[in-house]
Amino acid sequence: MSTDDQAPSTLFSTMPSTKPDATDARPKPGKIFLVGLGPGDIDQMTARARTAIAAADVAIGYRTYLRLITQLLEGKEVIERGMAEEIDRCGEAVALARQGRVVALVSSGDVGVFGMAGPLYEVLLAQGWTRDSGITVEVVPGITAASACASLVGAPLTHDFCAISLSDMLTPWTVIAARLEAAARADFVTVFYNPKSSRRPDQIREAQAIFLRHRSPTTPVAIVHAAYRPRQSVDLTTLADMLDRDIGMTSAVILGNRSSLVQAGIMLTPRGYAHKYDIIDGQPRPGESPRASLSSGLDGWRNALTTLATEQGIQQAAATLGANPTHVLETLRDSGSASPAVVRKPSASALLDEALAWHGATLHLPSSAGSGATLAALDLTGVARGDRAGLLTLSGVGWTLELPWKNVAAAYRVLDRHRVCAWLQGPEGDTLLRIEGAL
Ligand SMILES: C[S@@+](CC[C@H](N)C(=O)[O-])C[C@H]1O[C@@H](n2cnc3c(N)ncnc32)[C@H](O)[C@@H]1O
Repeated sequence: MSTDDQAPSTLFSTMPSTKPDATDARPKPGKIFLVGLGPGDIDQMTARARTAIAAADVAIGYRTYLRLITQLLEGKEVIERGMAEEIDRCGEAVALARQGRVVALVSSGDVGVFGMAGPLYEVLLAQGWTRDSGITVEVVPGITAASACASLVGAPLTHDFCAISLSDMLTPWTVIAARLEAAARADFVTVFYNPKSSRRPDQIREAQAIFLRHRSPTTPVAIVHAAYRPRQSVDLTTLADMLDRDIGMTSAVILGNRSSLVQAGIMLTPRGYAHKYDIIDGQPRPGESPRASLSSGLDGWRNALTTLATEQGIQQAAATLGANPTHVLETLRDSGSASPAVVRKPSASALLDEALAWHGATLHLPSSAGSGATLAALDLTGVARGDRAGLLTLSGVGWTLELPWKNVAAAYRVLDRHRVCAWLQGPEGDTLLRIEGAL
């Protein structure tokens, strides 16, 4: 929070402000426009952003952004603030609107993308504001840095992408790291906002290390600095070399996915047309139709899953298709497949009782690293089962397994030609344990 909130750094006020008539005892309800200014060039602003600013009698914002639109602020009271004074800016905007003023609270890019829309609503909701309680709020979207920067390098966002802010000023690093890991693993094109500053030099290094665990060092990376501003620059590099380049507070970094490429100075992430069509003659490829999902779309995936599960077993099918085990089990259950036949059981405990009586039952414990222990007890019925304080225990000779029942989200009974299986699944879709046997 700022220390100078008693004395806003109002820089210029070129006309008397249009405060409500002092003789009017009840001030008119005010309005707050949350305005996304786009990347910086006035030509990249939306028409609505311009009319909203024109309609406002006060503009509040970070001084760098207000200075980008000086010519639109003539005749308005202008309240400039420094960085990290967002909550102060919101409080001032709300206080002014309560006096009946029309306020433009501005952000660069899109006001709702790492911008002022969130904190403004947080402040309003904390004060008990509702839509019909006086102050009107209008969010005016703008071109966000991801789109602006992408436009300068080619077409890097033509497939699934995500935006991650590397700023840990408000977000714990564990949260940021988990999102980086998920985005990298899921092959999203990823745009880093707030990638680096003098106070945060190392976050970009950590982020690169996470991505290098999942993507090739040659993955294309675009570093766009100050897009649509006077000092704009574009640097095409690779995941391995990105740290040698200049990255700062006004840079956005676009990391390609496994299909992204650079050719003729253009960074491109193909949308997938080449899977379906010959790109030169436009003809559909064999087995593909312009009006249908790809042959490897959802229906194709389901068919492949059922075939693989029948031929190679559920474990192998899940591994081959990179699928979550619960997703595989649910898909087989919904498909009504006769073999393997999957039934979701309402009681994991009853299913366990049944499984412990199967002939030649073996207990399989997967590990997150992909390995797994198989405790082959010839007769699991001899195993002691305990239930206390919400904990399932299974004890054999020289081993004890403990599993909190609260971790068990679903239980499936699976029957194929050879075996019967009980699968206990966790809330994340992971397998907690599997018992296989013969009926
Ligand atoms: C607090 S975020 C605000 C994002 C903004 N609301 C938007 O939608 O673009 C600030 C970060 O956005 C990115 N950014 C904003 N404007 C940019 C521009 N013109 N060129 C490159 N990156 C920009 C930078 O990563 C910067 O650190």
